Amino acid sequence: MHIRSETPADVDAIHDLTTTAFTPMPYSEGTEAEIIRRLRLSGDLTISLVAEEAGEILGHVAYSAVTIDGVHDGWFGLGPISVKPERQRRGIGRALIARGLELLREMGASGCALIGNPDVYGGAGFSSDGQLTYHDLETRLVQRIVFRGPAPSGMLRFAPAFEN
Ligand SMILES: CC(C)(COP(=O)(O)OP(=O)(O)OC[C@H]1O[C@@H](n2cnc3c(N)ncnc32)[C@H](O)[C@@H]1OP(=O)(O)O)[C@@H](O)C(=O)NCCC(=O)NCCS
Repeated sequence: MHIRSETPADVDAIHDLTTTAFTPMPYSEGTEAEIIRRLRLSGDLTISLVAEEAGEILGHVAYSAVTIDGVHDGWFGLGPISVKPERQRRGIGRALIARGLELLREMGASGCALIGNPDVYGGAGFSSDGQLTYHDLETRLVQRIVFRGPAPSGMLRFAPAFEN
């Protein structure tokens, strides 16, 4: 399995994988594949990585710029992320996250934020101190990893592609 940036030939496989991975999830709004397509179209898909094995796309992660209290200060958001259901819990998600964070650091990013289960992202270094918020969501689900500068405080907002 290796991690690489998406190419135009991966677009349909990423769409199908994202739909398949999110469909059983109770928290899914069924819009994740469409969000990736919109991010790509609007030029907001800063990083899009696939995990490939023998020509098959087994996982995908997207990163895009975010704002905190309306300001983009080098912060990015992780997601959507998906791994083929039969191949979950074997380190593919972890590898996609690690490579994406490495690329963000190389770009000089300040940090990365996400909405998700702390059990999934804590091992990669994400945590919450309650200061980063997302509407009225419980703040333990609003996690971040700081690369440089102060820990963020305020309302996290994703790219327009995330808004219905
Ligand atoms: C979330 C997802 C991308 C994780 O990918 P994965 O390849 O299964 O994850 P990994 O095997 O690399 O595990 C990464 C970490 O998450 C944890 N984890 C994975 N699935 C988990 C689950 N269902 N519940 C709790 N922890 C989980 C692992 O224990 C691991 O923790 P560690 O790094 O501290 O050891 C994958 O499960 C998926 O596609 N889910 C459906 C789509 C989705 O929900 N996306 C995320 C929305 S927030």
